[in-house]
Amino acid sequence: MGVTTRDAVSACAPGRVELLGNHTDYNQGVVLGAAINRVICVSGDMNDRTIRLISPGFRDVEIQATELQPQQENRWANYILGVAAELRQLGVPVRGFHARVRGDLPIGSGLSSSAALELSTALFLLKLFPFELTRLEIAKACQRAEHRYVGVQSGLLDQVISLFGRAQHAVFFDCRTEEIRTIPFPSSLGLIIADSGRQRELASGEYNLRRTETQNAAAAFGVTALRDLKPAELDRANIPDLLRRRARHVVEENDRVWRAVQLLQAGDGHGFGKLMNESHESSRRNFENSTPELDLLVSIAQRLPGVLGARLTGAGFGGATVTLCETNEAPAIAQQLAKSYSAQTGTEPQVFVCEIADGAH
Ligand code: GLA
Repeated sequence: MGVTTRDAVSACAPGRVELLGNHTDYNQGVVLGAAINRVICVSGDMNDRTIRLISPGFRDVEIQATELQPQQENRWANYILGVAAELRQLGVPVRGFHARVRGDLPIGSGLSSSAALELSTALFLLKLFPFELTRLEIAKACQRAEHRYVGVQSGLLDQVISLFGRAQHAVFFDCRTEEIRTIPFPSSLGLIIADSGRQRELASGEYNLRRTETQNAAAAFGVTALRDLKPAELDRANIPDLLRRRARHVVEENDRVWRAVQLLQAGDGHGFGKLMNESHESSRRNFENSTPELDLLVSIAQRLPGVLGARLTGAGFGGATVTLCETNEAPAIAQQLAKSYSAQTGTEPQVFVCEIADGAH
């Protein structure tokens, strides 16, 4: 028995683009992102006995509803199963269900397909098994699912942006105070996403390693979190070079986010783009989360007329870049970027002009 014909319930969640605030979220810092017009949807129905999951390109999974645990083989299912487990922990009466996953959000490209799958699952399950939770509680349950079922110690950026996104607005999130604010994104500015085609493997360890390194850096500087360190304090003596560079990235990223908020409010795309360029340079030198492919996409973009700035977006270590440009020029720039990249590498990148969309619904 499958979930093919009459899906009783469905929910969708968008991917997100991280505009600025790279690896700041789990350091209690600030981020600026936006939900994009690419989604993952989960639809299906309840079932008394089993949990059955279907997703194009992946092997079907079926388990007993009473035997919720991380899968060793079909790991893609862990995002869904992890969310079901976390919701149960919160008292949501999740029983069996059959669900199918669809969507047009590229997977593993740094556009947060993980959070989109987690959130669409959470909203789908909350429709099937109604229970009152605040939106922030839902976001945090999804984050815990990623920690416990997937093994990535991610921050809360992706889930918050995917859930609180608003069309034609950037989302500002303060990960310490949990303030969430939307800021109008000038219609004169366009965003282009370019997927390097090299898949990110978050769970492979680089991400978790950065998390440990930044914690060690905070300890070396004697602060609770890197959020508490000022740019002027970065040159303090007797800090190992690697920890100083990791700290510099995070501390200066926080600073860039605060400045970017002002610039966005003033409609200053040039200033904003400059901060994006600086962010990428810092990823390259200080945080070492870029790749040759991402560097190439960024450097091609930065030289094209009409481009205001470009950087990697999300965790890095592969995935995608985001380019800020003048709206009218966006389609031509996207085309040129794809053309130059494939001429230099022989690989056709996925490049698209993205729109800022509403959050999960
Ligand atoms: C991934 C994580 C986020 C955040 C970014 C980097 O997208 O899921 O929590 O840490 O990387 O800023």
